[in-house]
Amino acid sequence: MSKNINTKLIKLIKYYSLINHNLILKNKSINRYSQKQPNIQKDKAQSLKKLRDEIKDIKNCKLKESASNLVFSDGNPNSKVMIIGEGPGANEDKEGFPFVGRAGQLLDKMLNAINLNRTKVYITNVVNYRPPENRKPTEKEVKRYLPFLKRHIEIVNPKIILLLGSTAMNAILGNTDVISKVRGKWYKFEINKLKIYSIVSFHPAYLLRQPEQKKYSWIDLKMIREKLKKL
Ligand code: URA
Repeated sequence: MSKNINTKLIKLIKYYSLINHNLILKNKSINRYSQKQPNIQKDKAQSLKKLRDEIKDIKNCKLKESASNLVFSDGNPNSKVMIIGEGPGANEDKEGFPFVGRAGQLLDKMLNAINLNRTKVYITNVVNYRPPENRKPTEKEVKRYLPFLKRHIEIVNPKIILLLGSTAMNAILGNTDVISKVRGKWYKFEINKLKIYSIVSFHPAYLLRQPEQKKYSWIDLKMIREKLKKL
């Protein structure tokens, strides 16, 4: 009999030790939906703002001096796909957003073809101010903006990076081959222990000049579509 009471007592002690008394004694309801997510998003927005402010404050930069606007990004910072172009052109400089000119219209069509749009991707460039006369950014300029771009990637934390054109490819993968050799394959870009699937494809401005190359871009886009299904 007393053995029975002892076992019951031990069970009871074990049971009460499992209960979080704070939850019972507090008469406030438990919000099971308030997970970490909102904070993560808030932190992300703050980090992006800080990065943007730092780029806005950059000193002794000829690109900034000749440009009208900072072109930071467009799209959804919580998306799985981050697209990196070369640098703003005249239209982007005027409006302050990347890929808003003819190349941007083509990019939008390309994204639509795989059911993506600017609410489902995040877009930025290697340099954030327009190089005069739409020239390519110099090696020195790319080097100066690369730490910003890398931080940008870390903050957005995408699953996939689409590198449009050779400037973005060189900056991120360090590859100097021609795009036709590098495109159509997945690369793993590692940044601060994050491994990000990266793919290189033709820049839409190039596709406007060489439309016969669009068939290869289509292959790359389909690779992104398939990869997204698995992520
Ligand atoms: N080309 C780019 O690389 N980026 C833009 O934002 C526009 C055109």
